[in-house]
Amino acid sequence: MNEIDPKRLPQHIAIIMDGNGRWAERHAMGRVLGHRKGAHAVRSTVKACRRIGVRCLTLYAFSMENWLRPRTEVRALLSLLEDYLETETGEMMAQDIRLTAIGNLSSLGEPISRKLAESIARTAENNGMVLNLALSYGGRDEIVAAAGRIASDVVAGTIVPDQVTKELFGRYLYTTGLPDPDLLIRTGGECRISNFLLWQMAYTEFYFTEVLWPDFRERHLLRAIVDYQQRERRFGLTSEQLKA
Ligand code: FPP
Repeated sequence: MNEIDPKRLPQHIAIIMDGNGRWAERHAMGRVLGHRKGAHAVRSTVKACRRIGVRCLTLYAFSMENWLRPRTEVRALLSLLEDYLETETGEMMAQDIRLTAIGNLSSLGEPISRKLAESIARTAENNGMVLNLALSYGGRDEIVAAAGRIASDVVAGTIVPDQVTKELFGRYLYTTGLPDPDLLIRTGGECRISNFLLWQMAYTEFYFTEVLWPDFRERHLLRAIVDYQQRERRFGLTSEQLKA
């Protein structure tokens, strides 16, 4: 396999961690065990990204649509998240990782939203990498919420409609302050973006792999980065313009 070029790393990697349920089925286990294995893959991927030098990693850990899953599965996912915050905040401190979160965080309820806020506050000064968890997140909901807040600010007279540019719109999104993802990885073999970072992925490179999320390891991450580094990102320009 080709080596990765440390000078051309994707600054921001976003991951749709799909395939926990199928992994469990293939191993004759319940879905919840698949998610538990998925949480191990989260731990190793965070570590690998930090080691490689990725600046920001966004993980789609719980979508708005996931609330519609059976109650036992929703409870298990939230409890895995709670465990993760309890066990990994110390590790984030040790690895200089800043935790952030995007989504309708208040809907997570107690004690998760409190623990999340505590971990975010505790890691706020860390600089090595941003770990951004998308929780109770939906891309369309995010855009609609931003539009609503812009409308309120126009009504309140804080801004005028002429000031509503792409840059201003971006500042009303959950991801304000973070760069747009350079690379999206989706595991589990499906080729869609499932309401994830719709605005932010305008120019993101997509990488789909059959590997199920619980099996995802550093070598798969490296393969995705090598693939990304072989692409020419033109942002609507021609190859010639880029070389000029
Ligand atoms: C999709 O697999 C995965 C999820 C809905 C949840 C992702 C959660 C984790 C990886 C674990 C907890 C996260 C953290 C940050 C500790 P699926 O159930 O849709 O798989 P399937 O398509 O094979 O059924």
